[in-house]
Amino acid sequence: MSETAKLELQGKTFELPVIEGTEQEKAIDINDLRAQTGYITLDSGYKNTGATVSNITFLDGETGILRYRGYPIEQLAERSDFQEVAYLLIYGELPTKTQLENFSENIKLHTLIHEDMRRFYSAFPTFAHPMGVVSSVTCALSSFYPESLNPHRGEVKINLTMTRLLAKFPTIAAWAYKNSIGHPVIYPKNKLGYVENFLNMMFSMPTEEYELDPVVVNALDKLLILHADHEQNCSTSTVRLAGSSQANLYSSIAAGVTALWGPLHGGANQEVIEMLDKIKDDGGSVDKWVEKAKDKNDSFRLMGFGHRVYKNFDPRAKIIKKACDDVLNRLGIKDPILEIAKKLEEVALHDEYFIERKLYPNVDFYSGIIYRAMGIPKDMFTVLFAVGRLPGWIAQWNEMRLNKEPIGRPRQIYVGPKVRDYINIADR
Ligand code: ACO
Repeated sequence: MSETAKLELQGKTFELPVIEGTEQEKAIDINDLRAQTGYITLDSGYKNTGATVSNITFLDGETGILRYRGYPIEQLAERSDFQEVAYLLIYGELPTKTQLENFSENIKLHTLIHEDMRRFYSAFPTFAHPMGVVSSVTCALSSFYPESLNPHRGEVKINLTMTRLLAKFPTIAAWAYKNSIGHPVIYPKNKLGYVENFLNMMFSMPTEEYELDPVVVNALDKLLILHADHEQNCSTSTVRLAGSSQANLYSSIAAGVTALWGPLHGGANQEVIEMLDKIKDDGGSVDKWVEKAKDKNDSFRLMGFGHRVYKNFDPRAKIIKKACDDVLNRLGIKDPILEIAKKLEEVALHDEYFIERKLYPNVDFYSGIIYRAMGIPKDMFTVLFAVGRLPGWIAQWNEMRLNKEPIGRPRQIYVGPKVRDYINIADR
């Protein structure tokens, strides 16, 4: 007999089905709870709430496992490339050679963005954070492709929208950077691969060709793979929630970019570098900063430490730490903040406060150091995260759509004033 959970309320017993995933994760299915009992559950921050069943990504935070469509992240980072991983996430299987070639060719057909969109960029102040620009321009794509507003336009056209977005997003991101430094934008070059093209649009100048360094290309490719999906995190849940109202793909992804921006999520990679720089300028001793992080009267947190689901280690951080050493060695860069980062990790990992709370370096702890070695400015770190996360967001949006999931609409427990009569302003 299948397992059930029993809930006793006001002398009555209710049976709730238990469902089990392919990796033996269990959930009490409360879909009918309110209808049966009149009660709702309260779970601030959704720490115990499964919002969906998904085929895309499996992660086990206790043992540090991360798999896309069943494939371990370590194998994908070592042997695959970002475009293949994007295909895997969106379509569910590794592509054949022909499928991958077609996928790549289709993306190349759509890398340009409408010329009128160039004018958007000149209207943004150069000091604008590029995440705000990327989110706005991504949403604005929906105005250039109004057919994307129709959620029932058929699989071929929806597929075209997904391809368009994958193709245009690196252009949108690189142009946000060019705008921020007052340089002319660089158009995509379709003879280049996805990652090469992005780097070229970031660093090439009309006056000077950018020389692509295979070390940099490989490192960026790996970083994008590691960021490509992470099941129901804050930004992905935002994409699914926005999409559940049948909002179009562009606006749903723009909502995801906005959610990613925050310092407790994707914005942490920029904050890590700013923190390490501050520690360096303060003399480089890490003990004071570890003490500050532990002090409950001090709002300072060790950025790049801790994770909502990883409670032993973040498997992505392990791969990135090694990639960071490799990139800096191969490029011959000596960055003093790498030494500070390693010292900080060492001290924190042996400190009772961090051990007790299971706080370990997360994916963002070392990624910023690599980005910096590549010449990518701090403001762009979270944009890079978004470029990596895009295939995951698209895959999750598409899964939500194909599953015909209902509109997301959490409930609440109201604790405000009881009903009261309106008082005229003269009498207040
Ligand atoms: N430095 C110091 N203390 C911390 C840190 C930290 N980085 N992270 C958590 N803690 C402490 C909290 O103060 C809390 O202590 P308490 O139990 O004494 O009150 C305890 O550890 C649990 O922390 P929560 O905030 O409840 O854990 P939660 O799972 O809600 O938050 C989060 C996870 C947001 C990632 C948190 O660890 C954090 O703020 N880290 C720093 C920001 C960061 O690196 N974010 C990137 C996450 S990875 C990603 O989004 C890609």
